[in-house]
Amino acid sequence: MLKIVVLASGGGTNLQAIIDSIEKGKIGNTEIAMVISNNEKAYALDRARNYGIPAVCISPKNYPSREEFYKKLLLTIEGVSPGLIVLAGFLVVIPEIMIEKYKNKMINIHPSLIPSFCGTGFYGLKVHEEALKRGVKVTGATVHFVDEGTDTGPIILQKAVEVKQDDTAKILQRRVMEEAEWEILPEAIDLYARGKIKVREKRAWIE
Ligand code: GRF
Repeated sequence: MLKIVVLASGGGTNLQAIIDSIEKGKIGNTEIAMVISNNEKAYALDRARNYGIPAVCISPKNYPSREEFYKKLLLTIEGVSPGLIVLAGFLVVIPEIMIEKYKNKMINIHPSLIPSFCGTGFYGLKVHEEALKRGVKVTGATVHFVDEGTDTGPIILQKAVEVKQDDTAKILQRRVMEEAEWEILPEAIDLYARGKIKVREKRAWIE
């Protein structure tokens, strides 16, 4: 059984997609051992609690230094011994020590087709605003392993989504979630749980 820890800062719709996929058997042999948020008001925590999943807030505000915050975050994760960490809208810079420890064992969902509209500062609505500004006709979402860069790790899955002429950033954000994010994040977890993802050099392969 693959134990996963999900880190989320906000609404947790991706977390919900994971929960639903486990319930429906679309993700096999996997349990969410814990949900952690940096934000005590994150609805993701309520979603977890509604399903009896341990949900913990670890906020930097409650620690004297960034180091102390990271220490607590890492200790809490280590206490669960997860096989995989899933970043599902986690708006915290991941410390290097955690990236090293969970190399190719930590994935992130990003709401664009990497390498477009990604990197520092590209999160939330900003990603979709920039896609609209550039006038792209296709955008999408990407699941990738987390490495030391921002959105630079090996790409596992991507799904394209059409941009419509009268889209607002909010409308586009919702379509990308519905048509891409909620599909490929659970799919990537299932592939991982079945041992189907291999990383060679900087590329992820589905075998
Ligand atoms: C999603 O758009 C995800 O791609 C990004 O953050 C957002 C999280 O949304 N990384 P939610 O909290 O899962 O609803």
